[in-house]
Amino acid sequence: MSSGIRKDGEERRPVTLTRLAEMHEAGEPIAMITAYDFPSAEVIEEAGADIVLVGDSAANCVLGYDSTVPVGMDEMTMLAKAVRRGLKTPFLVGDLPFGSYEGSNELAIASAQRLVKEAGCDAVKLEGGGTSVERARAIIDAGIPVMGHVGLTPQTATALGGMKAQGRTAQQAIRVAEDAVALDQAGCFAIVIEAVPEAVAEMIVAKLDAPTIGIGAGNATAGQVLVLHDLVGINHGHVAKFVKRYSDVRSEMLRGVEAYIDEVRSRSFPAPEHVYAVDPSELEPLRQRLNREDLEHHSYFESNSGWDWEPLS
Ligand code: KIV
Repeated sequence: MSSGIRKDGEERRPVTLTRLAEMHEAGEPIAMITAYDFPSAEVIEEAGADIVLVGDSAANCVLGYDSTVPVGMDEMTMLAKAVRRGLKTPFLVGDLPFGSYEGSNELAIASAQRLVKEAGCDAVKLEGGGTSVERARAIIDAGIPVMGHVGLTPQTATALGGMKAQGRTAQQAIRVAEDAVALDQAGCFAIVIEAVPEAVAEMIVAKLDAPTIGIGAGNATAGQVLVLHDLVGINHGHVAKFVKRYSDVRSEMLRGVEAYIDEVRSRSFPAPEHVYAVDPSELEPLRQRLNREDLEHHSYFESNSGWDWEPLS
């Protein structure tokens, strides 16, 4: 894989597991962002992120589902392939969607292999403790690095009482900590901690060897992750407490699309600079041809069958 060039001209080498471990060791923060398409991946490449996650948050962000539960392997694989084409440098993690790993170790390995073989992901992520720890171990044994995910796990949010912070009671905090320790011992190369009080995350982080990536877990984690659509402001409506908006892309998109529609309606678009020219000498034969009486005239609206036009002879 070739190296990537950042906006500031700095050349970066591809981020590997070794590089992530070195960053963790040196206390260098790890910047992780989600992506679901080629142009976003190119922007993230240029901006210089360390890890890109093709998150199952694609379900809400780009596919219009109302939770992450319905998204499937075909959709995740297609999105991950597009992201792969836009990246050279960041470490690429593909999210295993709900239902693609829980059933058995064989299912988990087959799904993980798909994201690696077909989409070119470097690693996969799965959610939760319990049986997910066994699935993580099986995938790692099959040669694919795994990122764990504890705290608020959106795929099983119903069982957690909804999309809300976890670990605010001692009992919940112990469960989150036990899940994280088990995933660490299973060999996960990193663990996402989502929507957990900072003080709880800090205590868990201190017990783990693997770097932790926080989302709504405060500043003690080795790195941070945000959903791209939240951070650049493509989503509208409610966003979680832990989201910071760094730009307002939706307003800018809306401004552009409204301006286009206005200009089409006022015929000020296309302007002369958007129009192809033709040598006037080429127009005379066309004019003569179009004036011939034998020219058949078919209109889509006049025809019953729609598209059965006779070609011009
Ligand atoms: O799907 C996703 O985007 C995630 C991140 C929030 C970690 O799991």
